Amino acid sequence: MIVVTAANGNQGRLLIPKLLDAKLPVRACVRSVESARRLHQMGVPDVVVGDVSDPAVAARAVHGAQQVYHIGPTLHPREREMGRTVVDAARAAGVRHFVFSSVLHAITTDLVQHEIKRDVEEHLLSSGLEFTILQPANYMLPLKLKPVFSRGVFELSWSLERRQSMVDLDDVTDVARTVLADGARHYGATYELAGPGRYTAHELGEIISRVLGRPVEVRRIDADTYLKAWVGDADPREVTHQLRVLRSITERYSSHDFVGNPNVLTWLLGRPPTTFEAYVRKHANGVA
Ligand SMILES: NC(=O)c1ccc[n+]([C@@H]2O[C@H](COP(=O)([O-])OP(=O)(O)OC[C@H]3O[C@@H](n4cnc5c(N)ncnc54)[C@H](OP(=O)(O)O)[C@@H]3O)[C@@H](O)[C@H]2O)c1
Repeated sequence: MIVVTAANGNQGRLLIPKLLDAKLPVRACVRSVESARRLHQMGVPDVVVGDVSDPAVAARAVHGAQQVYHIGPTLHPREREMGRTVVDAARAAGVRHFVFSSVLHAITTDLVQHEIKRDVEEHLLSSGLEFTILQPANYMLPLKLKPVFSRGVFELSWSLERRQSMVDLDDVTDVARTVLADGARHYGATYELAGPGRYTAHELGEIISRVLGRPVEVRRIDADTYLKAWVGDADPREVTHQLRVLRSITERYSSHDFVGNPNVLTWLLGRPPTTFEAYVRKHANGVA
């Protein structure tokens, strides 16, 4: 049995069908009943609903499992506790292999969400569990293309001149499926997962413009505006952690590039990783 946390999220929605197609037994873990219903419809028979930062829920989620694929939900204020709790529950339940979806350059302590993952990685390394750590670069996400498709504006909440490496989640979840299916071959490994190229916002805008065949405006927005895309008009007192994360991203990515190398991803996929242009083409179907 493979337990996937954050199972109805960006990665989970892509990974679960791949595991089911490979006839691997899957248990999904989500917070809401609506997501559990969706996962049942996708063909997942076993779904645990609850907050996995609660040790009792985490224990229920990993009970009887051989493998865990853990993803910390985006901007979650208890992401660190959640990761540690799931690791502890997995160790107590005798899980064989713990795969942690971390982030590229988790050692970067001035990025809040990286420091959290660094801490979870350390906890996992010290747990005695067999582990594999995946460290994806910035995700290529449909959400990031939404303002371009609807308003012709590509928005980033950091310097438009800084370079970033990006990765298609279809590639990341292909790797996750391989790592989970092959198990022991990947014990003790930490894999940096970056797609080809390192782009400024202007270059990303040019690529999108070429694919769509129309001009694209590239615009910098602040962290507070970006947060609205995630949480709408939530009470600011309820989203202090999220704002801290996003402000640290703005700060760091405006003073440093965030770049990786595609060699490891190419090797793991056995094919070239998806380019940003191919990704935009895939999602522009019906828009261009
Ligand atoms: N965005 C990037 O560019 C990037 C790059 C590298 C790494 N990362 C990291 O990737 C992770 C996010 O991955 P993702 O986008 O695939 O995940 P995601 O979409 O944020 O995950 C959402 C899922 O998490 C579940 N969830 C939320 N809170 C929960 C809780 N307390 N207990 C149990 N389940 C809970 C949700 O359940 P419901 O559906 O029931 O609400 C939903 O299924 C983050 O840690 C982020 O830092 C992101």
